Parts: sequence; C-alpha cells; structure tokens
Amino acid sequence: MTIVRRSELGMPRLAAIASESVATILSLQNESGAYPASPTFSAYEGYSWFRDGSFIADAMSAYGEIESADRFHDWCSEILLSRREQIAAIVEASQAGNPVASSRMLSTRFTFSGDEGSDDWWDFQLDGYGTWLWAVCEHSRRRAVPLDRWYPAIELATDYLLSSWDRPCFDWWEEREDEVHVSTLGCIAAGLAGVVADLDGQRQTRVVTVLSEIDMLIRTRGVANGHLSKWLGSTDVDASLVALISPLGAIPVDDVLTAGTIAAVDRQLNVGGGVHRYLLDTFFGGGQWPLLSCMLGLAFAATGDRSRALDQLRWAASTVTEGGQLPEQVDDHLLFPERQQEWIDRWGTVATPLLWSHAMFVRLAVELGVER
Ligand code: BGC
Repeated sequence: MTIVRRSELGMPRLAAIASESVATILSLQNESGAYPASPTFSAYEGYSWFRDGSFIADAMSAYGEIESADRFHDWCSEILLSRREQIAAIVEASQAGNPVASSRMLSTRFTFSGDEGSDDWWDFQLDGYGTWLWAVCEHSRRRAVPLDRWYPAIELATDYLLSSWDRPCFDWWEEREDEVHVSTLGCIAAGLAGVVADLDGQRQTRVVTVLSEIDMLIRTRGVANGHLSKWLGSTDVDASLVALISPLGAIPVDDVLTAGTIAAVDRQLNVGGGVHRYLLDTFFGGGQWPLLSCMLGLAFAATGDRSRALDQLRWAASTVTEGGQLPEQVDDHLLFPERQQEWIDRWGTVATPLLWSHAMFVRLAVELGVER
C-alpha cells in the first residue's frame, strides 16, 4: 500500500524515517541482543536470523548505535561458542571426506535465547555466517571496537565456512537447497575477506586459498550474459546479487560484473524503484521489496550515481505505513497476483514491520548523508 506521493519525500522526511527506523529497531531488540525478524508475523515470530540480523547490526553501527550492534554480535558469538563441539564435528567430518548431513549443519535462525526452536524451517543456509563475519569486522573497523571480544567466535565461524563453503544449501530466500548460490558465495567471500588480516598464519593461508577459489568459481560458473547469476550454472539474475557490490564489497566497484549486474537487476527486476527478488518469485504473489530497493540504491551509490540511489530511497520511503512501519514487500506490482492469497491464508498478511527493511533504509540513508 503506497500512501505517500514520492514528490512529498524531501530530505527532512527521509531523515525522519531513518531516525524512526532506528528507534523501531532499538525498541524491538531483545534483551539478549537478538533482533527479531518481525515481531508479529506468524512464521517469523520469536526468531532472529543471522542474515537479517547482521545487516541490521551493520545499519545500526553505521548510524552510530554502537552498543546495539555490539549486543547483537555478542548474541551471535554466544551461539557459536556454545556450538563449539558441533562445529568441530562438522569440520572433522568434512576433512575426512565424509561431510555431515545438512540437518546437522548450523541453523539459519535461532530463538532469542539462542536455541534452534521447535518449528521446522529451511535451515541449512551458509550465507548468514559469512555476513556475520563481514558485519562484525566492519563494525570493529568503523567504530574502533576491538575484535578480541568476538575473536573466539570469529575463529569458529571461519573454520565452519572453510570446511563447507562449497556445499549446496538454501539461498537468501530459503529456496533451492540443491544449488550453490552466487549470493551465498559472495556473503562467504565478504566475511572471509573481512577477517583474513586478523587470523593466525595457518587459517590465514587457507582463507586466502578459499577466497581465490570462490572468485574463480563465481567468474567461471556464476556469470551469465555479463551479470552475476542466481546460482552456479543458472542464467537468471536475483536482486540479492547487488548486495555483493555494496554493502558487502565482494565484487569491486570497477569490476565489469558490477555494471553488468546492476544493469540486469535494474532492467529485469526494478519497476519504478520497487525491486522484485527474481522473475519467477511467487511468495505473496511476488511483490516488490523495500530492502532490495535500498540494496540497489547502495549499489548505485557505490558507482557514484547518487541520483538513482536517492530515487531508490524515495521509493522505499513511499512504502512506509501510516503507523510508520516498513513491510517485507508491497503488492503494487505483483509478478503472480494469483499466488498472493495462498500465502495470506497460510501465514497472514505480509510481515510488517520487517526490521531488515528498516535497516536497509537506514543504511542507504547514511550512505547518502540524509539520515539526520
Ligand atoms: C526471507 C528471508 C528472511 C526471512 C526473515 C524470509 O521470507 O526469504 O530472506 O531472512 O524471511 O526475514
């Protein structure tokens, strides 16, 4: 539901949305440090994702909410430390050439108290652990917070990813478990690149090798028609891929793949500023995601196109509800309108607020200097 005309969205209004978004995130952050994905949406209630949370922590850090980001990283760190034995078993089995089943890998989301919870989920996803490494290292550098506080958990996450980075798993959208997704590889690369300088000699050598293997794999099998592709061997594009340009920085801005990927996402998935996840998306009818609009905005900003970046921010601002909340998606332009109702029947109306949407709005506002 778009309730604001974009021409009404001047800088003060954009800044107010950013500051209200930060207040929303702070008010909903659990005392454990976990960021709920969405406080009221039936399927997400009670859980925090490594993926969403890491992007949220990055936005909070960028905005200056240092303690909030610290607390989320503490929560992640505790989850990893308390699974030291599980991680050791995963690493050992992988080294022995007999990897554990997906069901024994780390979960993608946890309850606020740090348990797996009892609801079934599409749980084996590697990207969140890479994104967490990236976010905690960015936070440490940006805010001069010593990494020591999280270092033992950083080593565990690094070992986990080194052992399993090339396994097929569910993607950002918790789909296609049988594929190796390019966004997932990019998140892992961003995390490993973020941490490499701080590792001991042996780990560092292995990380350098894996980073070049990921780069080679993406460039040989993860590219189609000049853009990054959805998974290895696919010719489709997916909007999550623009995050590899910015904020993750896994693909350099001057790389030919940057221009090609932005152009493909912009041409195929961006409708008036609202970005679809991918062309065959049927989730809630396949609407437009404010968080992806902001990610495309960040990619535009990285290439110096401030005007297009601001357009993206304005579109995201136009999706704020009367109550000041940003949804997961809006249904102004659906790819498969006939598939919307089945999801409403299953899970209720679209997740609102979605903290990740608020976070990406904040992150882009900060990037454009319009956050205050
Ligand atoms: C999305 C995930 C997200 C989760 C929680 C799912 O519908 O596909 O990317 O992590 O919601 O927000």
